[in-house]
This record gives sequence, C-alpha cells and structure tokens, in this order.
Amino acid sequence: MEESKKHLLDEEAKASLDIWRYVFGFADMAAAKCAIDLKIPEAIENHPSQPVTLAEISGAVSASPSHLHRIMRFLVHQGVFKEVPTKDGLATGYTNTPLSRRMMITKRDGKSLAPFVLFETSPELIAPWLRLSSVVSSPANGSHPPPFDSVHGQDLWALADDNPCFNDVINEAMACHTRLVVPRVAAACHDLFEGVATVVDVGGSTGETLAILVKEFPWIKGFNFDLPHVIEVAQVLDGVENVGGDMFDSVPKCDAVFVKWVLHDWGDKDCIRILKNCKEAVPPNIGKVLIVESIIRDQKKTMIVKDRDEKLEQVRLMLDMGMMAHTSTGKERTLKEWDFVLNEAGFARYEVRDIDDVQCVIIAYRGDDDEFDCKFEVLVLGSRIYVIKEANKYAYDPKEGRWLLLEMGFTGIEWILETSGVWCVLDNLVFKEFGDDLWWYDVSCGKWLIVEGLEALRYTKVSCRYRMIQLVNYGGKLVIVWLVSPEPLYRRNKPPVIQEDLLCRD
Ligand SMILES: C[S@@+](CC[C@H](N)C(=O)[O-])C[C@H]1O[C@@H](n2cnc3c(N)ncnc32)[C@H](O)[C@@H]1O
Repeated sequence: MEESKKHLLDEEAKASLDIWRYVFGFADMAAAKCAIDLKIPEAIENHPSQPVTLAEISGAVSASPSHLHRIMRFLVHQGVFKEVPTKDGLATGYTNTPLSRRMMITKRDGKSLAPFVLFETSPELIAPWLRLSSVVSSPANGSHPPPFDSVHGQDLWALADDNPCFNDVINEAMACHTRLVVPRVAAACHDLFEGVATVVDVGGSTGETLAILVKEFPWIKGFNFDLPHVIEVAQVLDGVENVGGDMFDSVPKCDAVFVKWVLHDWGDKDCIRILKNCKEAVPPNIGKVLIVESIIRDQKKTMIVKDRDEKLEQVRLMLDMGMMAHTSTGKERTLKEWDFVLNEAGFARYEVRDIDDVQCVIIAYRGDDDEFDCKFEVLVLGSRIYVIKEANKYAYDPKEGRWLLLEMGFTGIEWILETSGVWCVLDNLVFKEFGDDLWWYDVSCGKWLIVEGLEALRYTKVSCRYRMIQLVNYGGKLVIVWLVSPEPLYRRNKPPVIQEDLLCRD
C-alpha cells in the first residue's frame, strides 16, 4: 500500500477512537472527584491489611458496593488505582498508586492536588467552561462579557468575596499547588534570597507560599498581601504579616516581591500595571521581582521533545484554556509576551530559571537609578563597603565584585539608623553613642557592647550638661566631641561651648 494512503488510514483509525475523549472527557474528572469526595484513597491507605477488598472499602466509605465497583473498575483502567490478588489469592483487592495518593484530600504533603480537582470540578468553574465559544466569537473589543462573568454576573474574585465557601475552595486549591511548586522555586532561587530582609507575596492567598519561604530563608520577614476577604482567612504565621489591599493601587515596600500565579489572571494592560506597582515596591538597583508563571513554548509539535516536556506543555495549554474560561482577560504567555509586559513595566532586565515543572521563575530586576529616597548609611569596614538601610543591609566585596548579603554576625548594625546618636568607624569596629554610653559593635557576634572604662571620664562631667555630638576617626584614634552647656541641657538658654576630649581606642 502506498505510504501516504496507509498514513491516512492510520489517522482515520486513530481519530475514530480519539473522538470519544471529547465525548466523555469529563468522565476522568468526575470519577476522580467521586474518589476524592468519598476519600477512597485514604480508605485504602489507612486500612490495616493490603490490598483492600471492595467490601472493606465500601464499609469504610459507606458506599453502595455495586456503584463503587464500577467507579473502581474505571479508575483502575485509567491507572489511578491498582487491582491485585489478595494475600490468600482467593479474591482481588485494591492498592493505591502514586497517582491516587495525589488525590488524598487530607494530605498536605506537597504532592496532593486533590483540592485543585475539587476547585476545577466545582459548579462555579464548570459552567463557564461551557461558554468558551461566546468569548472566542466575541469581537476584539470584547463586547460580550467573559464566560465566568456571563454565568455568575461578576468575576471570580468578586464571587469569592461574596461567597466564603467558594473563597475557601479557591484558597485550598492555591495552597496545595503552592506546596507543590514553591519548594522547587526555593531550591532553584536560594541565592536570590541572600541579603533580602523583606519579601511581599503579591496575591499571596492564605500565606502558604510565605510559610514555606520563611522556613527556608529564616532571615526574611514576609508580608502576605491579598484582597481583604482573603486576608481575613489567612494563616497567622511567625515571621509573616498579613496585609489587605489592592495590588492595582500599590504594593507594600520591600526588598523583593514574589508573585505567583497572579499575572496570568490579567491581560497585558492590567498585568503591566501590577508589574509597575511591584517594581515601585522594591528598591532601585537591587530590587527584584520573582514571578512564578508558565511560559508557553514556541516549539512546534513536529519537533522531537521529551515526553515529559510535551506533557508539561500540555498542562500549560490547558491552563491557558482555564484562563480564558475563568478570568476576564487572563492568559498564559510566551517568552515574547513576557518580554513585552516586562519591558513596558520598565524593568531593566530579566532572567528565566527552569524548575522542571509547568511553571518557571522569571526574575525581573528593577535596576534603575531613581533617586535614593530611603534613609541609608554607607560605611567601610575592613575590606568591604556596607550600605545599611532601615530594612536591609548590603555589603559590597570588591574582590568578588558584587553585592552580598551580610553575614549572620552583622544583624544588629541597622541600629545605627534606628536610633539617634552619633557613630563612627575605626578600622574594623563601629562606635556609637546611645543613652549616655559609648557602644561598640562586635562583628563576630552581631551585638552591640558597652565600651567599658569610660565611667570616670563621664562622671567628671555633670551628666545633664554634656552631650556627645560627634565621633571622629582621627588618624586611627577615636575623638569624642562633647557639647557642654553651662546650664543643664534641659534648661539650655545660652549658647553652648564645644570642648574636645581625645581618647585612645585601646
Ligand atoms: C490564582 S490566585 C494565586 C494565589 C497564590 N499566589 C498562589 O499561587 O497560590 C490569585 C490571587 O490574587 C488575588 N488577587 C486578585 N485580585 C487582587 C488584587 N486586586 N489585589 C491583591 N490580590 C488580588 C486573589 O485573591 C488570589 O489570592
């Protein structure tokens, strides 16, 4: 037979079977939802003897054996459960597989996506799926309401605001996905959190992402930022503050922004606006925004790609359909489309890190030189230059030629900024006046210690009449400039007399 004819016949044969996927595509979802609702994977997992017979499962989940048998037959066929002989070989029983364990609603192990199945199979989400044609046939100016709005009369976030149960369903779905993906992000981006003191998770939902990040990077303080109705039900976590607000207005100031699965909910115009607010929230030059999203590949199907890559791409394309059904303007983006929104938002540059998953991390660097409007100090200690801001500390090591996080032992140095009082650097030591005492900073333990032995000097003066007004590194010696008032300072009404005392550092 001619090669092209054979190919056509093969295609016909394949299509005659494939078409049934579209007739009963929902059956997979529905049967999985049934197993999750009844907690069948849990019933099998928790049963003392394995494999578990149909009678044992139906007893555990209070199900009709005949219906349960049909559900199990379907799910075994689809590879969700396994059917194997019982130990005595007289009957058959069921065991879990890695796939059915991912359908355990009670498991929060970073693998289960059961809450996501329940979200996608919720009546609120199913109905808009059936109206895709209305958005596709809508003219470019979008005169028809988006599918979700046309079903519910409002968008997804407004419905979540009105309906606390639906709000919980969304938040649970987001949380289980976060448990799956954020540890991968943390592993791939460890270096990006070095030297970062504050992170805002924009659209952070109930705080699952920050729960993972503050555990992995204990030096950061997290701000979980979302709409007020989400923040109301957010987790209370050590090291994380929940902040209600609207990312279209502004994003709280921080060293780095984390934004996962938010930008794909919005069209380019909104996306650029959110990105601009994220950019404004982080400091110039060093500020960065970590975006966790999909990048639709431009590879054509004819190219040889690994099976896993092909499956990941299929998920990305399904997600894009989800964006069309459930958001007004959202979409999954190609790299070219990301490039466009990032450039429009004014980021200087970006890089992409692969996490071998559906999503990847796009790191956008603010990188501009806007005016430095924050309170900061620069000091040179040993071979490094330190920049201290209230919120953060950065060190520049000329040998390495880059900005570094400050070592653990340098944690208290921001005290220079937090309190009034003069300070000065002498070689590798920082001296600071505070509350009538002179303190020095011990880099090795990150603590401020009182300079001992100055009592005699101090008591020669009437304490309420003097004030240290400057500390000077005078050729390696510490010069304390005192202001001494003839009158007690709190009743000062005459011009002060300035007197200097020289003091050897040792
Ligand atoms: C798809 S969810 C992603 C949640 C979370 N980042 C995650 O990946 O698990 C989008 C989040 O954006 C939040 N959101 C929507 N509009 C917002 C707004 N105007 N300001 C702040 N957050 C918003 C939603 O409440 C929701 O928690």
